[in-house]
Amino acid sequence: MRDKIEKLLSEVEQLAAKREQEVEEIRIRLLGKKGSITQLFDEFRNVLPEQKRELGQVLNSLKIAAVNKIEQLKEMLDESMESEGSAFDLTKPGDSQELGSRHPISVTRREILSIFSKYGYEVAEGPEIEDDWHVFGALNFPPEHPARDMQDTFFITEGDNPILLRTHTSSAQVRAMERISLPIRIVCPGRVFRNEAISARAHCIFHQVEGLYIDKQVTFADLKQAVLLFAREMFGENAQIRLRPSYFPFTEPSAEVDVSCNICGGKGCNICKGTGWLEIMGCGMVDPNVLEANGIDSTQYSGFAFGMGIERIAMLKWQVKDLRLYFENDIRFLKQFETVV
Ligand code: PHE
Repeated sequence: MRDKIEKLLSEVEQLAAKREQEVEEIRIRLLGKKGSITQLFDEFRNVLPEQKRELGQVLNSLKIAAVNKIEQLKEMLDESMESEGSAFDLTKPGDSQELGSRHPISVTRREILSIFSKYGYEVAEGPEIEDDWHVFGALNFPPEHPARDMQDTFFITEGDNPILLRTHTSSAQVRAMERISLPIRIVCPGRVFRNEAISARAHCIFHQVEGLYIDKQVTFADLKQAVLLFAREMFGENAQIRLRPSYFPFTEPSAEVDVSCNICGGKGCNICKGTGWLEIMGCGMVDPNVLEANGIDSTQYSGFAFGMGIERIAMLKWQVKDLRLYFENDIRFLKQFETVV
């Protein structure tokens, strides 16, 4: 009997299992009703009284060793289950993970920035919460300008140089003029805020990319060329542009840029309202007052600036008819841009 016990003990020590079912089989083989250890306990009844004490101890330790071993095997299997997931049934379908897609505003922002980066423009950013000086003062807005009205701008504080939510990313250009040495060639992407009622065509939050180029002898012809190159890369190589005179406090002369309608090719359709043209941005030569307000000698340097709404460019590119779609984040809308890199 002693031999049998010792043989079983060494067998128990070497037990291994790959599946839970095997562990159960081992338990039945050793400790089940007809299991080999159970049988030894039956035989133990016939052991001579003087051997009972010693054999009883070894037999008990065999049973304890077997119970512990089985526990240990179960634990090991549980652990490897956790780390390998469905390692036990490789035919089961995996958990499906849906890939997200870039938001159309991000797609468009990246495209605009990459076009300008080819022409040497660097990205410069600034804070969304700004002061009056960087949004208006340094940009030649007179004190009574309507943009400073509560109806147009979200003010955070009152006073001489109130804190407000920037209404355009031109403020990032002012910060760049403070920071960067000349020449300056930058594009400023970012979120802007205007106190407007939300509708299909307007929102109180939207996104802009504005550009600024300051060097010696920068002319209006350079501005026109920059805008044309951008329009052709964005809307196709046959795109035409036209400039209409306009007004901004920080540029003189100023213009509004239209691109030929990429839907009807200029013939006139309902997107361009029959005109053949779509408005894409504002631009102009930086007003000498702005250069001087930012410590740049306007007799030596000149520059141009432009600014566009990312939502608007994306609307024209994909014929999105309602601005609110960009902010609702309905995945049925967002998924349509999945293939657009
Ligand atoms: N800052 C103007 C806006 O927000 C856009 C613009 C930028 C116009 C630069 C001209 C030159 O509407």
